[in-house]
Amino acid sequence: MSDTRIADIKGRRVWDSRGRPTVEVDVTLKSGAFGRAIAPAGASMGSGEAVDLRDGGAKLGGYDVGRAVNAVNSEVAVALGGMDAADQASIDQAMIALDGTANKGRLGGNAIVATSMAVLHAAAAASGIPLWQHLAQGRKVRIPLPEIQIFGGGAHAARRVDIQDFMVMCPGAASFAQALEWTAEVYLAAGSIMKQAGKLQGVADEGGYWPAFRSNEEALDTLVASILKAGFKGGDVAISLDVAASEFGKAGTYTLALDDRKLDTTAMIDMLGRWCEAYPIVSIEDPVAEDDAEGFVAFTRAYGDRCQVIGDDFLVTNAARVRKAAADGAATAVLIKPNQAGTVTETRAALDAGKAAGFGTIVSARSGETEDVTIVYLAVGWDAGQLKVGSFSRSERMAKWNECLRIEEALGRDAVFAGRGALGFRR
Ligand code: PGA
Ligand code: ZN
Repeated sequence: MSDTRIADIKGRRVWDSRGRPTVEVDVTLKSGAFGRAIAPAGASMGSGEAVDLRDGGAKLGGYDVGRAVNAVNSEVAVALGGMDAADQASIDQAMIALDGTANKGRLGGNAIVATSMAVLHAAAAASGIPLWQHLAQGRKVRIPLPEIQIFGGGAHAARRVDIQDFMVMCPGAASFAQALEWTAEVYLAAGSIMKQAGKLQGVADEGGYWPAFRSNEEALDTLVASILKAGFKGGDVAISLDVAASEFGKAGTYTLALDDRKLDTTAMIDMLGRWCEAYPIVSIEDPVAEDDAEGFVAFTRAYGDRCQVIGDDFLVTNAARVRKAAADGAATAVLIKPNQAGTVTETRAALDAGKAAGFGTIVSARSGETEDVTIVYLAVGWDAGQLKVGSFSRSERMAKWNECLRIEEALGRDAVFAGRGALGFRR
């Protein structure tokens, strides 16, 4: 057995897909095994998320991460030095205790999550097998069903439309490779439709086309037209939405800027319900705001048997919140973002809580991303069943889709694509 004790930890500032600073961490073990990870960053964040430590002030818009990098190179490096990287739970517990806050704001969620994931990579490197395999520990895993953005919106497109993500899923695909090929056809078709309509204006934060639409419905109509133009039927390629309602709803009032309308929770749910009737929608994320638990219950009761209801800002990758939502019937699926929780161990706990409840589980990137592809290994190794990475352009997104393709190829005939069965519905 190689020596898996931590010999060295080094943090540095690197840059994310929005050109903002973020934290990268290198971990070297006594055996020489090495791991590296980079913290992502959200734009439409839940209030219950782990908080990134930013320097504030005028420089770099206040986004600099000098203090978070310093925390890695001083306090964190000292505390974790000599600890066993193979014992992820103890590593993560040590950082939680060292930080001492409920939201990880003292050392920074960015410092902690990058360190936690880098330790995980180092432990896998020491074991000499790919990270996804290291996580699977011999259990059967599936290649996740991808959820891929075609039009960006909300906080990722200067609120050009209210809804944040207009996505496709390919429940009819036989493999991950085929799901990507089908999505590529839809993305291409959407681009040509936008071009013909004189609406092609580049892409939003996650690489989906800029939503130059007059209404949320026009975006939905254009998405359906794109699926049809690409030659697919509703059942094979379906629609998934991230409403990200916390961005425009609070205390039971939802302000649709584009349609110049204010809706209460009931009207909001009715509008989404009409969309579920009119369009081939299989999944809706954050249909109401994070403070609207009753709205989540009402929406799940009304539509959760045919539409996956995902909690993102609502559940913030928190196991206790997932268990409560399951008991209340407030969702049928949970989005799993490592930097919402702040450590690998807590992320895993939220995913396990989701699985125990019979929820769909979707490992997800953030709108601020990098070349780091750790989430792909988590999605496969933990057998999450679904993966959300943003759109089908820009290399911080494509790096992740491409890595998942390589895993499917490496598994060869043993590869099992999660497909339609990965979606979580109310039973
Ligand atoms: P964020 O959004 O990464 O900007 O927070 C992603 C999401 O809402 O799923
Ligand atoms: Zn979301």
